[in-house]
Amino acid sequence: MREDVIKLLIEEAQKARQMAYAPYSNYLVGAALIVPSGNIFTGCNVENASYGLTNCAERTAIFKAVSSGQRHIDAIAIVGGPLVESEADVDASSKIKTDYAYPCGACRQVLSEFLPESGDIYVIVAKSVDDYKLYKLSELLPYSFK
Ligand code: THU
Repeated sequence: MREDVIKLLIEEAQKARQMAYAPYSNYLVGAALIVPSGNIFTGCNVENASYGLTNCAERTAIFKAVSSGQRHIDAIAIVGGPLVESEADVDASSKIKTDYAYPCGACRQVLSEFLPESGDIYVIVAKSVDDYKLYKLSELLPYSFK
């Protein structure tokens, strides 16, 4: 997959993470996905006092895309990590520590509903534009239900 598109998706996921509503876990996640037309949809995690109602960043982005008429996803980038108090291990621009935030099982399954013509979705798990891991969904969710 094209390096410039990977970096663009990571940047968009970083921006989306700034919108995360995560007062219960303080774990802030952003996601950005690209569809075959080249349009990008972003999402953040949205928590709730009733914890189980929380929506992950990935599914927020997927539901935004699907509810805008999209049915296929080429790639998704995810950026996440805890809000921390100390300066140690924090990126310069924010108080957010960045992990490799892998998509949860539920989000992997939801992604598998919207495969592109190529038959697989690229999943980018990023700490920064220069530090990321690239997978195919079929690696992260083999033998998916459909
Ligand atoms: N979270 C995501 O947004 N995406 C994932 O794939 C895993 C977890 C969110 C849910 C919750 O708001 C916080 O991270 C801690 O679990």
